Parts: sequence; structure tokens; C-alpha cells
Amino acid sequence: MNPPLKIAVAGLGTVGAGLVKLLASQAALLEARCGRRLVITAVSARDRHKKRDVDLSGFAWYDDPVEMAKSADAEAIVELIGGANGPAKALTEAAFVKGRHVVTANKAMLAHHGATLAAAAEGAGVTLGYEAAVAGGIPIVKALREGLAGNKIERVYGILNGTCNYILTVMRESGKSFEDVLADAQKKGYAEADPSLDVDGVDAAHKLAVLTSLAFGTAMDFEAVSVAGIRNVSPMDLEYAGELGFRIKLLAIGRRTPRGIEQRVHPCMIPAGIPLARVDGVFNAVMVDGDFAGNTVYVGRGAGQFPTASAVASDLVDLARGVRSPVFGVPAGKLAKLVVSPMAEHRGRYYIRLMVRDQPGVIADVSAALRDERVSLESMLQRGRSKTKAVPVVLTTHETVEAAMLRALDRIGRLEAVLEPPCMIRIEEL
Ligand code: HSE
Repeated sequence: MNPPLKIAVAGLGTVGAGLVKLLASQAALLEARCGRRLVITAVSARDRHKKRDVDLSGFAWYDDPVEMAKSADAEAIVELIGGANGPAKALTEAAFVKGRHVVTANKAMLAHHGATLAAAAEGAGVTLGYEAAVAGGIPIVKALREGLAGNKIERVYGILNGTCNYILTVMRESGKSFEDVLADAQKKGYAEADPSLDVDGVDAAHKLAVLTSLAFGTAMDFEAVSVAGIRNVSPMDLEYAGELGFRIKLLAIGRRTPRGIEQRVHPCMIPAGIPLARVDGVFNAVMVDGDFAGNTVYVGRGAGQFPTASAVASDLVDLARGVRSPVFGVPAGKLAKLVVSPMAEHRGRYYIRLMVRDQPGVIADVSAALRDERVSLESMLQRGRSKTKAVPVVLTTHETVEAAMLRALDRIGRLEAVLEPPCMIRIEEL
């Protein structure tokens, strides 16, 4: 019998506890699949005495996760602490120095330091596994790195944040405001007390930075991701989207263009009839366009104890089997510099909602601004009359360049009859 794969786990929150449970309940199955046992030997967390629903008595305890990474009786260190820097990064680097593999769910750390950490792992002859860092239980890292290795990837995109998808779904179904739905989600434990990483699009941007590196063989460049969250999506826009045959989703999109790679996270109008539009609630979905495989689709739970533990386990299975892949699909030294396609040069269609004073000449002024920037209107909708209150005017455009759209909106926003900053949502051709 082969010796077991010995594992030390840093961080015993939801996912850490899930991993302890998974490795116990699937022990026989994993042993059959790997030809050896997967055994936790050591754990580390902030509070040793916290009540947890898992039995830790058989594991060595470390107060200091970095010390554990250096000296535990383990070949693989699982990092479930989180945060781009701090103990997560310190223990990862310490593990590499000691020649130990690291498995992590930490998208922030990868987005900021992925290429450097991959080089460090490679230099030490060990691996860095991170299936759990993107889209929870969906095996998208392996799909891109192994399953689609024969393809040039043109585009990778999808719904990468379950919290935002849940909030947008409930807003659409209930007509409630972002603030009300968020407060409710926080009460139910679906959204964090500090929701900003999720609702401002940062979490999805971390994951996108990782996916684009894998898909395009480029070094991570988190700063190059154009990010907007969902705070400004209003129930009115969700309703108009429905009337126009769209759904609003927070999408993360990595795409090759003739100008470079576009990396963007923002609310999008997408056709209501396509499968992605029906991925609702906390679910995630990732789509990949490969030149030989065509479009492939991956849907599942992007977070949660068991889906995320399942992803961590898949990396441990690779280690136990002796399967090794370059961290981001190509050796770290071969990752190309990311050439960014500037958002100002993005070409697409746009949904614009204006809140205007209902008086003659407003539409003529709006049209003039669009005409002068050569933005072609596709449709216009105005409903309701009010002598006292602002009324909504909704426009959709034909394909245009973003810089021209923004110049036109700047001029429109300064019109005396336009009473609120214009709302712009990109219409995505999928
Ligand atoms: N907070 C994330 C989400 C899951 O809501 O999808 C972990 O990245």
C-alpha cells in the first residue's frame, strides 16, 4: 500500500470544516481512486476553543499557520484563511520553501500574486492548486487547463458571484430596491456583513483575473480589470430590461480582441432567452469559447461548504495521484504580459436610462448629443407624464465605441432638463 498523502489545513471556517467532513466521509472512495489514503495530520485556526461540528482530536494543532506550513508532518498545505496578503501569503511562501504543495481557495491572493507564487512553486518543484478559488464546486480550472488544453480560447465569461446573482434575481422577482434586498440577504446569512467585495464586483474581478490568465496564458493583471458592481442597478432598469427582452446579470468577461485582452466585470443586459439568463439565485455559470471545442457551459454552486470542499478535494486527489500541471497552464516564466484592450475602445450596444423633465425639446437635445458623437439609436421608450416629477426615457443604441457613448452621456447629463446622472448598462452579445 502506498503511504498516505498527509495534509495540513490552515483555516477551519465553513470550507475548512467542510473539507474535514469530506475527507472523512469519502475516505474509502478517495483511497480507491488515488491508490492511497488522504489523511489530515495537522490543523490551524484562530481560535482553538471555538465550537465546531467536526472532531479535531486526531490532528496536531498549530496556533501559527506559518509555523504549521513549515513544520507539520504534511506534504500538502491547504490554505483556507483568505486575504491577498498576511498569513495566507506567508504560509504559502513558507510551504514552498520547505518543498510542500499548497492548495488554496484564495482568489484575492492569486489575483494579486498568482504569477509570482506560480514561479515560486515551480522553483521549489511543487504545485499550487486552486480549483476552489473560482466558481466553488464548478471544476472550471481543470476544464480550462486540462479539458480544453487543445483549444485557443477566444472568450471566457460568466456569473462568478453568487451574492450578486442572488440579489439581482430577488430584485427582479420582487421589485424591491438593491438596499432592501441586500439587507434581507444579510439577515439570512446569504451576504456578508461587509458586502463590498461582492456587490462592488471585486470578488468576481479576482476570479476573472485568474480565469483570463489560464485561458490566455497571460500573467495575472488584476489592476487591468475594469470593475463595476451592482449598487446602481435599480428595479426600474430590471423592469425595462424585461420589456426589452433582456435580463440584467453581473458578468465577468475575458475576451480576445484585435487590440488586446478585455477584462471586465459589470452589470450587463443579456438576451432573456439564453441559458445564462436563466442561471438565477446563488448559482454561478461559466462559458468558454474554444476554437475547436466551440462553446462549452459550466453551471453549479459557486460557494458553500460542500461545493468548495469538493473543489479543494479535487486538487488533493491530483497530488495523491502524482498528477502535476503547470499552475496557469504554461510554466510561470512563459506567461505572456497581458496586453489590455482599453475600455474606451470597447465596441458594443448600450442601454441608457435618463430621468428627465417632461417638456418639449428634451428628446431633440438628447438626439443631437448622440448624433454629434455618431451614436445610432436603436429604440426609445418614454412612458408616463408628470408636470412635477422626473419621467424615465429609455434608449438602446446600435453598436458604438464606448468613448463616443461616454462623451455623449457627459453632454446629455449636463442638459438642464436631465435631472439625474444617466444610467448606462452595456448590452452584451453572447
Ligand atoms: N462571496 C462569493 C459569492 C463566494 O458570493 O459568490 C466566494 O468567492
